[in-house]
Amino acid sequence: MSISLKRAPFVVIEGLDRSGKTTQTTRLYDRLKEAGVAVELIKFPDRTTAIGKMIDSYLRSTSELDDRAIHLLFSANRWELASTIEKHLNAGTAVICDRYAFSGIAFSASKITPTGEPALSFEWCLNPEKGLPAPDLVLFLDITPEIARKRGGYGQERYEKEEMQFRVRKLFQRIGGDVIAEKRDGKVNTTWEIVDAGRERDIVGAELWSLVQPLVNGVESQLARLWI
Ligand SMILES: Nc1ncnc2c1ncn2[C@@H]1O[C@H](COP(=O)(O)OP(=O)(O)O)[C@@H](O)[C@H]1O
Ligand SMILES: [Mg+2]
Repeated sequence: MSISLKRAPFVVIEGLDRSGKTTQTTRLYDRLKEAGVAVELIKFPDRTTAIGKMIDSYLRSTSELDDRAIHLLFSANRWELASTIEKHLNAGTAVICDRYAFSGIAFSASKITPTGEPALSFEWCLNPEKGLPAPDLVLFLDITPEIARKRGGYGQERYEKEEMQFRVRKLFQRIGGDVIAEKRDGKVNTTWEIVDAGRERDIVGAELWSLVQPLVNGVESQLARLWI
């Protein structure tokens, strides 16, 4: 007879700007609460910490930082919450993240030099994310930059420019493709689901719920680490 030691699930919602991440993470959080599931919602970047405040002023363009320095700050902002995430999961509290390491890589690796070359290599961007708690499920909200633009246009922050969003989407597709292949080969436990986020809120929400629901009673696998 085997004893199954369960922990709570770790779910990440990723996607381009205006794909509906904040809308859907909030809905998911509310729905889990209503279902009586212990759950914490974490939004990256967490702008409340000392590191988060530096990221915030960079995103609002009130400060300038070297591309590598800001990349490492985004990563450090996840690392400063890594042990909190782990503690929650082991204590039976589900964790939902609005963005995570995948955004960190996609946004930094999409930066280009004035001549159009990548400013930072993909591998360089991935390195500091290695070892972070690995989510059980990534819900990638896929949307074309054209549809995203119709949702009221991009905001005023640094990365909210349409031509950048095209490159970010390509990078997310590369990252997701790699995760899907590694899962198929049994190398990772992370499931990457691509959800068409160009549809109506309730339709997207229902699909997300159908993907999360099978995990709410806990997962048996030990918490894995990203890319190690
Ligand atoms: N499925 C949807 N259809 C139309 N508009 C949406 C949908 N989901 C979210 N929105 C709207 O689009 C905007 C961006 O949504 P938000 O959840 O903030 O996206 P993100 O966090 O990914 O940037 C908001 O004004 C939101 O109300
Ligand atoms: Mg948001």
